[in-house]
Amino acid sequence: MTPNVYPSRHPLVAHKLALLRSIDTEPKKFRELVREISILLAYEATTDLAVEPIEVTTPLGIARGQRLTQDIGLVPVLRAGLGMVEGIWEMMPGAEVWHIGLKRDERTLEPMQYYANKPVEPRVQLCLLLDPMLATGGSASAACTLLKSWGVRRIKYIGLIAAPEGIRRLQTDHPDVPIHIGAIDDHLNEIGYIVPGLGDAGDRQFGTG
Ligand code: PRP
Ligand code: URA
Repeated sequence: MTPNVYPSRHPLVAHKLALLRSIDTEPKKFRELVREISILLAYEATTDLAVEPIEVTTPLGIARGQRLTQDIGLVPVLRAGLGMVEGIWEMMPGAEVWHIGLKRDERTLEPMQYYANKPVEPRVQLCLLLDPMLATGGSASAACTLLKSWGVRRIKYIGLIAAPEGIRRLQTDHPDVPIHIGAIDDHLNEIGYIVPGLGDAGDRQFGTG
């Protein structure tokens, strides 16, 4: 396996990804699947979160437990990353949610930033960067560069489907950022879409295709 790249091997992810990809899947079902797969991928991506030991009183005695010690930021890349937030946020309700707006130029395929919203003084120890499609990798790379310019020292990228080209780009630009991905597909086509992929993740969620 390529270092720092973690394709999911979970049967539930594979099953749900197949449903997600289908041309017959309507936006409502598509959104449900994005949410569910994101939770599963975030579960896989967060097995090394820092914890500290605690004791809790049960009705029958004292139990040893653990408590998360890190502040976590969830960072969806607008627009398509939005659908990945809600389910993960339910699993870690103490997380902050920051937003980065990027749109690919259809001709050059380069991402253009149109929005950014973060706390004035960011203090999280870990950001989970959420963007479903890693195509050329330009958007994810630009988002990592922006997060680092804000002082974020630890980033994990979580996405649904990647092209090999996108993985290479993100690894080259940000070798410190692990890539947690639902599936790695075959290639990018001439207009920068992942093949076989699922089409346009934003349009399919928001019904704008
Ligand atoms: C899509 C997707 C990623 C980006 C991936 O966004 O959500 O952000 O493309 O492509 P890349 O790896 O080549 O940069 P898009 O620019 O279509 O915007 P949208 O989410 O608003 O539809
Ligand atoms: N963005 C998408 O939504 N789909 C792709 O296949 C590539 C970029």
